[in-house]
Amino acid sequence: MESVTKGIILAGGSGTRLHPMTSAFSKQLQPIYDKPMIYYPLSTLMMGGVQQIMIISTPQDTPVFERLLGDGSRFGIHLQYAVQDQPRGIAEAFLIAEDFIGQDNVVLILGDNVFYGKLDFLRTAINAHRTGDRGATIFGYPVQDAQRYGVVEMSADGTVRSLEEKPAAPRSNLAIPGLYVYDSSVCQIAKGLKPSARGELEITSVHQAYLDQERLHVELIGRGIAWLDTGTPESLLEASTFIHAIEKRQGLKIGCLEEVALARGYLTTEAFKASVEQLPASPYREYCERLLN
Ligand code: G1P
Repeated sequence: MESVTKGIILAGGSGTRLHPMTSAFSKQLQPIYDKPMIYYPLSTLMMGGVQQIMIISTPQDTPVFERLLGDGSRFGIHLQYAVQDQPRGIAEAFLIAEDFIGQDNVVLILGDNVFYGKLDFLRTAINAHRTGDRGATIFGYPVQDAQRYGVVEMSADGTVRSLEEKPAAPRSNLAIPGLYVYDSSVCQIAKGLKPSARGELEITSVHQAYLDQERLHVELIGRGIAWLDTGTPESLLEASTFIHAIEKRQGLKIGCLEEVALARGYLTTEAFKASVEQLPASPYREYCERLLN
């Protein structure tokens, strides 16, 4: 049987830095310019070729995501939902999604991570996992404020020297974006983790375990890719401004799920039309309609 690559979007967390915006609903539902935030990571997975996706969120927000996106059929994908009842860390996603992952490879994307640019790096990584015996692939992206992220330090020969979660004094400027590819052993690894000092199962501990097994692959990305932060009111505004600037200039939308589905062949032209007919009259619908001309 042909192996599939599954996807997980983790859209939990309390988003306290965005309070009061996040007091009634979660961060990943906030708008980035003209779409809810989760449209962007979902479109990233779809463009990477992933069609079976589990969305994990809080008890309050999971039904809202379900109302927003449904079973995914209007985007030619399969969506299912699961609840993380407490914010016990990113790596808990693999305990929640164990049955969903099964024996397959899995891509995890954090629901607040926005990528723009050619996603060949993701497709290449997914392919390397599909055809080879690779444990985990993470990416390294240069930033000016690495202390806010997971940080990877590389040796001159390309091996990993250290991994740290939000270090006060980062040893490199390479942040690790919230987009990761794993083999199915990630569930076993997650089971072996102990909560960190802040009481969470840390994603960096998962990567350290793969590194200890010499099964961690780090791919450097940077030029040509925008990885945007959405964690503070200012960065959220900057992300909206960025998306707005490009959409306005090109007349092309970023993160339009119907468009991605059509382009990737997840929806036939007929199914795309039927999907667009369900949309309320809006500039978004008009955009989708124009795609057929
Ligand atoms: C999480 C991860 C961190 C990663 C970041 C990317 O941090 O723990 O390693 O670099 O996502 O967005 P958070 O933003 O949830 O604090």
